[in-house]
Amino acid sequence: MFRLGRKLPVPEDLLRRLRRELSDLEAKDRLRSLRRYDSSKVDFGSNDYLGFALNEKLREKAVAAAKQVALSSSSSRLLPGHHREHLEAEQCFAEFVGGESALFFNSGWDANHALLTTLPTRHDIIIYDERSHASIYDGVHASIARSLRFDHNSAEDLETKIERVRRKNPNGQLFVVLESVYSMDGDVAELRSIADIAQKHSAILIVDEAHATGVLGPKGKGLTSTLVQRDDLVISMHTCGKAFGASGAFVVANRTITEYLINKARGFIYTTALPPIIPIQIIASIELLKEHGELMTKRLQERSTFVRESLQNMLREWQVPDGVTPIIPVIIGSDANALRAATSLNERGFIVPAVRPPTVPEGSARLRMNVSLRHTEEELENVVNAIVETESELIS
Ligand SMILES: Cc1ncc(COP(=O)(O)O)c(C=O)c1O
Repeated sequence: MFRLGRKLPVPEDLLRRLRRELSDLEAKDRLRSLRRYDSSKVDFGSNDYLGFALNEKLREKAVAAAKQVALSSSSSRLLPGHHREHLEAEQCFAEFVGGESALFFNSGWDANHALLTTLPTRHDIIIYDERSHASIYDGVHASIARSLRFDHNSAEDLETKIERVRRKNPNGQLFVVLESVYSMDGDVAELRSIADIAQKHSAILIVDEAHATGVLGPKGKGLTSTLVQRDDLVISMHTCGKAFGASGAFVVANRTITEYLINKARGFIYTTALPPIIPIQIIASIELLKEHGELMTKRLQERSTFVRESLQNMLREWQVPDGVTPIIPVIIGSDANALRAATSLNERGFIVPAVRPPTVPEGSARLRMNVSLRHTEEELENVVNAIVETESELIS
């Protein structure tokens, strides 16, 4: 019972358990904490690959548009929260990537969760890449469908698993889920061969393009747009909080699928739509990509190659895998050293976050750096030198 004027404490048992779990995390160097964004540092942690989040032309458009629209959508899209701007952004994005229809969600997490919990039934099977993002894992775990993993980026293992599943369950619909660019390693999916296998077995292919949108494919349309045939079996998910410099995410799919999601996806129905200024911002980002996407993605790739190759040539022990994307992991190994490296780089003026298990596999704690068009060439050279100096300090 609540009595006015009396502050009831959180039960001691609960507090004790929470404190114990937090100190266990701390003992393992895995305690997470929030750090205020420090704009005086050169940021290699954000996913703002094209520098759109700070782009002056986009800012001017957004500021002008903000004067014309409501500051909040104030309700779900299925209530009065559905503004003209949401629909325009969906049409603009579907047209940009060449999909039949697009549906805008409040985040990529919501979109992945909605796809995986709404489309498959209990008779269906989800087969997903073992290195998938947490939002895919969360969607799979919340789904009523059966699920299994395939070895990372292995079309062969995918086929073996599909054949095994098919022998036991010849009728259920298969869903194959993967990312086109993996967020922690920056490697690119073997999309062509995986799509061929999915097509051969009439599986629906769900491709998370979070880190490919604005980065790969013609004008940054993502990798699904490079499939010879982007047919109805392909569903792609494109986040707008990374290269687009905004927030939210599109699911691009056959129109019946997006209509079904509007009716059934709880994460779409029971939430307040993002404010109309967000789709306005996204449309402006798409316009910029239509005009300059080819050049921007090419430049981004050149700069990423410079950083990747410089680190590969100069580091002694820390590993930098080959790749073509702006996500460059510097694999250190121990959680404690990854944290020390991130702290040391911070003191030198750079934000380069440490990523530890469970986000990455045990023993592969790392620095995860993202190259962006907003970095100057000097900043790229400086961060490479700073990482090399940090390695020397920590391994000597
Ligand atoms: C691969 C991948 N998928 C989905 C998401 C979730 O997107 P959002 O940040 O829009 O929720 C992220 C971002 O964290 C991601 O890296």
